Amino acid sequence: MSYPEKIHQQAEAVIARYPEGRSRSALLPLLHLVQSHDGYVSEEGIAFCAEILDITKAQVMAVSTFYTMYKREPTGDWLVSVCTNTLCHAKGGQRVYDALSEELDVGHDETTVDGTITLEHAECLAACDYAPVVTVNYEFFDDMDETAALDLVRQLKEGKRPIPSRGAPLCTLREMSVQLAGFEDERQAALEGNAQGEATLAGNRLAAEAGITAPQFDPDTPLVETEEAK
Ligand code: FES
Repeated sequence: MSYPEKIHQQAEAVIARYPEGRSRSALLPLLHLVQSHDGYVSEEGIAFCAEILDITKAQVMAVSTFYTMYKREPTGDWLVSVCTNTLCHAKGGQRVYDALSEELDVGHDETTVDGTITLEHAECLAACDYAPVVTVNYEFFDDMDETAALDLVRQLKEGKRPIPSRGAPLCTLREMSVQLAGFEDERQAALEGNAQGEATLAGNRLAAEAGITAPQFDPDTPLVETEEAK
């Protein structure tokens, strides 16, 4: 497969973000970029990344198979991830997963027959204060139960885009992959989602009361030279 000119231009823009001689660091966003075109990281996508970064296909494959966000099979427009890790599990995450699995007639990392929805178990989604959580293309649906989760996927099947509990309005996995490659969400309503959750704000208030702050990033931190990079 040859990629369209736009993908080549975006790939060059991604590589230009990195210091000279460090282009291989662009691999992660480039994998999202090819996923935005193909719907998954295809063999062609792997070859494209290898060629443009002047690394081997085996190196690209090693990275793409390490991270679960890179899909190795065609994936639906809607990637439904159900957290079944400790806290979500204790609050019913597995029941949510089982209900969705039965409704969609798919198991972990499988896609519905019509190709629209892919279901997966997920490890902690860093939203334990809203457990059990489900994400659709990485946007959060908080405090789920079987009924709410079934309603969510039925809406997706009907072509609707339910509003996430927090974050931006839903977009397809391909559209999300463009953003994950580091390009702006150009939708007019991209910033109109529900931005805050009460549990998060409560944590923020407690941190403020206790005088706890996150350390600042120091832009003067020198790059660490590895033997390989020299
Ligand atoms: S355990 Fe589910 S979000 Fe942390």
